[in-house]
Amino acid sequence: MSGRFIVFEGGEGVGKSTQSRLLAEALRARGLEVVTTREPGGTPGAEAIRAMLLGKEGPAKDGLGWGARAEALLFAAARADHVETLIRPALARGAWVVCDRYLDSSRAYQGGGSGLQDPDIMALHRIGSEGLLPDCTVLLTLDPAEAAARVHKRDAGALDRIGGRAAAYHARVAAAFLRFAEAEPDRFALIAAEGAAEEVHARVLAAVNAL
Ligand code: TYD
Repeated sequence: MSGRFIVFEGGEGVGKSTQSRLLAEALRARGLEVVTTREPGGTPGAEAIRAMLLGKEGPAKDGLGWGARAEALLFAAARADHVETLIRPALARGAWVVCDRYLDSSRAYQGGGSGLQDPDIMALHRIGSEGLLPDCTVLLTLDPAEAAARVHKRDAGALDRIGGRAAAYHARVAAAFLRFAEAEPDRFALIAAEGAAEEVHARVLAAVNAL
């Protein structure tokens, strides 16, 4: 039997990596093989692209980074490598894949945030990853002030290139995520990320249980 593909999405500081870890632990406790991974990255090739996108090696060190189109292509290229060498093989052998960010981040950031058209992002995804979609996309939502406070505590004010963009950019990203969830209610689970990690985890488990 093929496995299941679960993705956590949302803005910075909503708790995606903590919730990915807690969900993976809960699934392993049920005897399932679970692969946890993240984007951009997850494979050596995709991590190399991540360093160009978010690190200090790219074309600009002033927080602007690549142009929106180059950025979208790089995210899609990283995803192509990740899907081909890690995600599809894991699903084929029956493992559950829990991934921190995926396609909807490209749609929300490069689309909603930077203004590229959604059909264009989807075309890159079709070319790069043969259109592979998650079985369930858990969208974590949190009040922006609370999310900013969590990011500040975690990173001590050191933001990456994309994380450091203006509040208006991140507001467009958040609005785009909500539009996607509304448009595809069967693929998305909308989860409030307020409260303690264990409380949020219980909400996530309830949503994923159906799978
Ligand atoms: P990361 O350090 O993983 O951030 P976070 O902890 O907020 O998840 O950095 C990922 C950054 O890359 C984040 O700002 C979102 C951005 N991103 C895109 O713009 N497009 C994408 O397709 C993906 C996967 C991430």
